[in-house]
Amino acid sequence: MVKLTGNEKVNIAVFISGTGSNLKNLISHSLKKKSKFRISLIISNNPKAKGLNFANKYKIKKTVINYKKFDNAEKTILKKLKKNNIDLVCLAGFMKILSANLIKKFNGKIINIHPSLLPKYKGLNTHERAMKNNEKFCGCTVHYVNSKLDSGKIIIQKKIRIFKNDNIEKIKKKVLKQEHQIYPKAISKVIINL
Ligand code: GAR
Repeated sequence: MVKLTGNEKVNIAVFISGTGSNLKNLISHSLKKKSKFRISLIISNNPKAKGLNFANKYKIKKTVINYKKFDNAEKTILKKLKKNNIDLVCLAGFMKILSANLIKKFNGKIINIHPSLLPKYKGLNTHERAMKNNEKFCGCTVHYVNSKLDSGKIIIQKKIRIFKNDNIEKIKKKVLKQEHQIYPKAISKVIINL
C-alpha cells in the first residue's frame, strides 16, 4: 500500500521499446507542479529505442534489458524495480510479454496502453485489422496487465471515429494523440488504489 501524504510522489518505471512518445508525455505530466508521480526509471529491451534519449535529456535512470535469456532479463527487471522503489510499472509501447511470475510479483501494479478498443484487436497490427474489418471506430485502452495478453481490467478507453478518407498513418496519429490524453488520467486513477 502506498500512502500519499503531502508532497510524496508515486515512483513509476516506464517500459519502452521504440519512439517513446507516451514516455515523453508522461515525463511532461510528471514535471507539473501538482503531479502525484515521478518517472524514476526507464526500461527498454531495445538498446536502439529512440525513447531512451529522454532518459538523458531529463536525467532519468535507464536500463537496457538483454532478452536473450528471458529468465535473466526478468530477474534484472525485478532487481531494478526493487532497487528504485518502484510503485507502479507503466508499459508504453513495450513489445515484450512479461511472464506470469513477474506479473504476480508486481500484482495490480503493472498497467499498459494498447492501440485498440479492447477486447477487440489484442496483439499487433491493431489499426490494420480494424480497417480491414471496416470498423467505424478505433481507439486506445489503458488496462491492468494480467497473465493473458491485453486482457486485464480496463481503466480508461477512448473511442475514435474512422472516416472514409483515413489511412493507417492518419489513424495511428489520431490514436497516439488520444493515448497521450488518457495515459496520465489512467495513472491518476490507479495511484489512488496502490
Ligand atoms: C503506442 O501506440 C502504444 O499503444 C503501442 O505502441 C505505441 C508506442 O508508441 N503499444 C502496443 O502496441 C503494445 N502492444 P510510443 O513509443 O510513441 O509511445
